[in-house]
Amino acid sequence: MEEVKQKIEALRKEIDRWNYQYYVLAQPIISDFEFDRKLKELEKLEAEYPEYYDPNSPTQRVGSDSNKNFVQVEHIYPMLSLSNTYSEEEVTEFYHRVKKTLNEDFEIVCELKYDGTSISLIYENGVLVRAITRGDGTRGDDVTANVRTIKSIPLKLQGNNYPDLFEIRGEILLPWLAFNKLNEERSETGEMLFANPRNAAAGTLKTQNPRIVAQRKLDSFLYYLLGEKLPFDGHYENLEKARSWGFKISDAVKKCKTLEDVFKFINYWNTERNNLPVATDGIVLKVNSIRQQLNLGWTAKSPRWAIAYKFQAESAETILNSVDFQVGRVGTITPVANLEPVLLSGTIVKRASLHNEDIINKFDVHIGDVCYVEKGGEIIPKITGVNKEARVHTGEKVVFIEYCPACGSKLIRPKGEAAYYCPNHLGCAPQIKGMVEHFVGRKAMNINAGEETINLFYEEGLINNVADLYEIKIEDILKLDRWGEKSAGNFLESIEMSKQISYDRVLYAIGIRFVGETVAKRLAKAFPAIEALMNATYEQLTAVDEIGEVIARSVLDYFSVESNRELIRRLKEQGIQFALGNEILAGRTNVLQGKTFVISGVFTEHSRDEYKELIEKNGGKNTGSISAKTNYILAGENMGHAKLQKAKDLKIKIINEYEFLTMI
Ligand code: IVH
Repeated sequence: MEEVKQKIEALRKEIDRWNYQYYVLAQPIISDFEFDRKLKELEKLEAEYPEYYDPNSPTQRVGSDSNKNFVQVEHIYPMLSLSNTYSEEEVTEFYHRVKKTLNEDFEIVCELKYDGTSISLIYENGVLVRAITRGDGTRGDDVTANVRTIKSIPLKLQGNNYPDLFEIRGEILLPWLAFNKLNEERSETGEMLFANPRNAAAGTLKTQNPRIVAQRKLDSFLYYLLGEKLPFDGHYENLEKARSWGFKISDAVKKCKTLEDVFKFINYWNTERNNLPVATDGIVLKVNSIRQQLNLGWTAKSPRWAIAYKFQAESAETILNSVDFQVGRVGTITPVANLEPVLLSGTIVKRASLHNEDIINKFDVHIGDVCYVEKGGEIIPKITGVNKEARVHTGEKVVFIEYCPACGSKLIRPKGEAAYYCPNHLGCAPQIKGMVEHFVGRKAMNINAGEETINLFYEEGLINNVADLYEIKIEDILKLDRWGEKSAGNFLESIEMSKQISYDRVLYAIGIRFVGETVAKRLAKAFPAIEALMNATYEQLTAVDEIGEVIARSVLDYFSVESNRELIRRLKEQGIQFALGNEILAGRTNVLQGKTFVISGVFTEHSRDEYKELIEKNGGKNTGSISAKTNYILAGENMGHAKLQKAKDLKIKIINEYEFLTMI
């Protein structure tokens, strides 16, 4: 037994080390394959010997399923902010003020100001015990479960020379790559885009499902230690020490003696920051010695020993020529400014976002105004204000439209939302075309038709919805300009091929709001035929892993519209797949290899025998009674009380049939 324990501990240590190499140092030392193999080995051992359970094991980092509300926790030390400046003079003044007050030698540590969301982490005896957001500075939200999924934050520290109790603060960030990918996905499912990585990081950290947090690829930089027994008087030296405990500490930290050194750092990073994988918005200057920090003290709002110098966002001024209102696939109206072309961070900008009605009114925008345009790293540039002083003669005041520019329907602005929508989903040209474009897309039905073709088909009256695509005849196409036998044949062939596309992709293709690729897969597995999904209740939908209120409501809304049900009926008649194929249902996999199940209770989707068969087909093992070797209880209604108690005592995971179906 002792041997197993040692083996488990050695594996945990090894995997922690690799995680550190990968996530903190960005220097992976083994292949992903090898990593997964070891992790699986550890998972297997832990499952076999639940008595060695450790919440800090690297296997526990995928997050739990719980959906608890956040608890408010008081900060040990209040979380103050920094005084900000955009001016070099004020940096100089800060330096001289410090010099005068201290009246002795001092050092200034220069760091990057990371633009994420701040976090306070408490470590007790080398173990992460709590992670709290800033909140109002005095009390924040306990987001420990979410933070535990962030791979660059150590759950257990390396070495042994850390204080038994200390706090470390830093920033939780969403790197640009992950941010762009997230927004791409959200745009596909019609969700509101995050304006910048900071909002995305903050939003993610407040998500109620740690599994979603785990998927979002958050990262961290830690930059401030607090505690009674920190190893050094120097902030810089403490950071270096913290690096050795496994924290992700930026390399862009410099100890400066003179103002000249400080400005060298500022000037270097002012341009170099554009090459970083994460967003930064300035430089933070801190007096290095903690003794001197105490000497300088705090104002009510911020420390006197530190200041933030913020980078000027690259901005330009130009004239607003006109405003367009665009209609998106799900009917969202976006106001876009047409500008007198202007050079901004190396590219010519002609169009910029005007956000929404509230912002247009706040800026009091008029045609002909001189506007400020910025590129904050976001996908499209945005208008950040109007130069009122430059207003000589203005055109009309910009007012948000009341009727859809494409179809004339009265727009609606749902309570609590900033955006307007056109409700005419079935008759509004850009919405119809947008829907069809989404449907034919490569990740959806993969039909050979680009934007131009769809436009043409629509203008020619060949299509009014996606089902019409399947009724287009070769003679209809041959009548069109520039279409010959070959191109028509290609199109029709891809139409035929699309009838083989699997049910989950079809679900994605029909364009239910908030149903992206991953959600579609989950729904297809939980409701293996469309009839089951069409008739699913709110409770059945939300019982599916990772299907929350918003998605469930959207699915219910979609199927409550008769024309959508009619569309599905037509597509089904045309031969589109609306059930998981038998080969998939019958499919043999080894996803449950090494897992032992006990089935108990009564089920809705399949019978007990079917579940037994499914377990075996997927490489798992069925047993009749619960023991320490059981990995999962597949529990239906009316599971026996004694069994339930035993499972709880042995800390065996209890899953429902939907969770099980998702697993396979
Ligand atoms: S030190 C008492 N260092 O900026 C000083 N803050 O406006 C504690 N920030 O709330 C903060 N990078 O979220 C510090 N290198 C850095 C930082 C940094 C970003 C954020 C932090 C803080 C805000 C202050």
